[in-house]
Amino acid sequence: MKTPTLETQRIILRPPTVSDAEAIFKNWTSDDDVTRYVTWSTHQSVEDTRKWLMLEEIRVESDKSYQWVFVHKETGEIFGSGGFAMNEERGMYELGYVLMKKYWRQGLATEAAKVMADFAVGTLGTKALFARHAVENPASGRVMEKVGFVYHCDGTCKSLDGLRVLDSKEYILTVP
Ligand SMILES: CC(C)(COP(=O)(O)OP(=O)(O)OC[C@H]1O[C@@H](n2cnc3c(N)ncnc32)[C@H](O)[C@@H]1OP(=O)(O)O)[C@@H](O)C(=O)NCCC(=O)NCCS
Repeated sequence: MKTPTLETQRIILRPPTVSDAEAIFKNWTSDDDVTRYVTWSTHQSVEDTRKWLMLEEIRVESDKSYQWVFVHKETGEIFGSGGFAMNEERGMYELGYVLMKKYWRQGLATEAAKVMADFAVGTLGTKALFARHAVENPASGRVMEKVGFVYHCDGTCKSLDGLRVLDSKEYILTVP
């Protein structure tokens, strides 16, 4: 199904559009602290962010990928993104999320991850979700645990450009 807009107490989660590029580049895709433990590299110019968003505009219709940007209801600021895409190797959707630094440690990643997982389970009928985080990034593991993921095993995760390999911890959320 087409990716719908979701809502929590503090966040509107809506599909990204190319017109978000400037704000997203300024707020987090250009920030090395945000990209340190993710599979993609820091964007060097707004053009990198625009290229990614052009792909997301196409993927919005796909059943294999559901991605959102997070808009803070109170400030109106676009402060993060996340979603899940089919991981063919695992046979499950893989969940991920990134927030701009200013919004860290306010429970917002947990709030966003929870509504995305609820959508996967409640609306799409997903029976299991996969997620992983770099060993050196335990905050992301805490988000997973708070949403109901359970530690599964250790692993490694290669960056998309193949240049970095991170030791990781893998988690699965299963629906009874
Ligand atoms: C990881 C990230 C998503 C966490 O987002 P957040 O909104 O700060 O997380 P929350 O506020 O929901 O906190 C969730 C838990 O993690 C803990 N936590 C948050 N930041 C932490 C940190 N730097 N160190 C240790 N624990 C941390 C919180 O205390 C909370 O646990 P608690 O309720 O037991 O206290 C955010 O730091 C981020 O976007 N980082 C860059 C991108 C990234 O690494 N994404 C994940 C890739 S796998």
